[in-house]
Amino acid sequence: MAALTQSLTFTGQRVVSRAQQAPKRASVTTKAALKHADELLETATKMTQPGKGILAMDESNATCGSRLEGVGVENIEENRRRYRELLITTPNLGEHIGGAILFEETLYQSCADGTSFVDALNAQGIYPGIKVDKGLRPLANTNESWCQGLDDLADRAAAYYEQGARFCKWRSVVSIPDGPTRTAVTDCAYGLARYAAIVQNAGLVPIVEPEILLDGEHGIDETFEVASWVWAETFKYLADNNVSFERMLLKPSMVGPGADCPTRNTAEEVADYTLRMLNSRVPPATAGIMFLSGGLSELDSTLYLNAMNQSPNPWHVSFSYARALQNTVLKTWAGDDAKKDEAQAILARRAKENGQAQLGKFVAGDVSDSESESTYQKNYVY
Ligand code: 13P
Repeated sequence: MAALTQSLTFTGQRVVSRAQQAPKRASVTTKAALKHADELLETATKMTQPGKGILAMDESNATCGSRLEGVGVENIEENRRRYRELLITTPNLGEHIGGAILFEETLYQSCADGTSFVDALNAQGIYPGIKVDKGLRPLANTNESWCQGLDDLADRAAAYYEQGARFCKWRSVVSIPDGPTRTAVTDCAYGLARYAAIVQNAGLVPIVEPEILLDGEHGIDETFEVASWVWAETFKYLADNNVSFERMLLKPSMVGPGADCPTRNTAEEVADYTLRMLNSRVPPATAGIMFLSGGLSELDSTLYLNAMNQSPNPWHVSFSYARALQNTVLKTWAGDDAKKDEAQAILARRAKENGQAQLGKFVAGDVSDSESESTYQKNYVY
């Protein structure tokens, strides 16, 4: 090998060999280099068992609060705690839910009987997760945004692991009507990759979520182009940052028309576009594709997931829904603990139906008005 790195002489000129010219590269992360490699793989594998998905319940205090206020419940810490206790203590929730994403406040809360939420989740076989991004900020000179939270992430990730979290989520967004600009796409992709590398190092399985917002009049073809661009950039930076694909989960938006597009597409068309986009961008080694619901109705989110699982694909294609799992549950409870059992039964059924959709075996039965109404809100902030 020494010969390769020596200066060579050619027609009297000093020629520098390629090995000497090459910039210093970071070596690719090997299993041995990743401190929590085995645990990360176990977490990712157990969360993606057949028929399982994720319950997203990581709304910020402001967003959770506006949902609570929407059903007449005051936005105070105790009411957020009561509502979240109802969700995580739903009997047999672990049959179809492999992980629950919590907001920071929730990770440190306990049930009324003193059991910590972390213990209550573990007792159901559900991994506790945590939203670690610090939200969106306006991107100068555009109507787009960038996502903050990298600065102290290594320290926070270590503390969340200590508290019992084993996976986490970072949600960045890309908006179609006002762009997207290259700056917004690069910020989104680079931020997600840095985040994923940092948290894997701390023992947390990253959920990588570049949400393509539903807002706009664009058609499905435009969404397809933007999603393909965003995922290409994201995987470039994930690879540059040596993120282990086997130890991460993706949380994409489904590829569909904008909320104000007059042309609507069928579940089969959405599934076809989404899978074509993913097949051209996502390595098969990726542990799981856990879709967000993004404003779809509860029923549509299940139908679309079911359509995607009609033909074989290399991944675990599943759900990580918030609105599409919680919408009717919250309206049913509305702060009244006499309705708790009824609300929990709805959550258990919605989890089961999405678990069936993960297997491509969902058949819609009777559906309430609430479950077929859109959960879309313009300019939604998580
Ligand atoms: P929705 O399913 O409500 O779109 O939630 C998205 C999300 O990012 C939750 O983690």
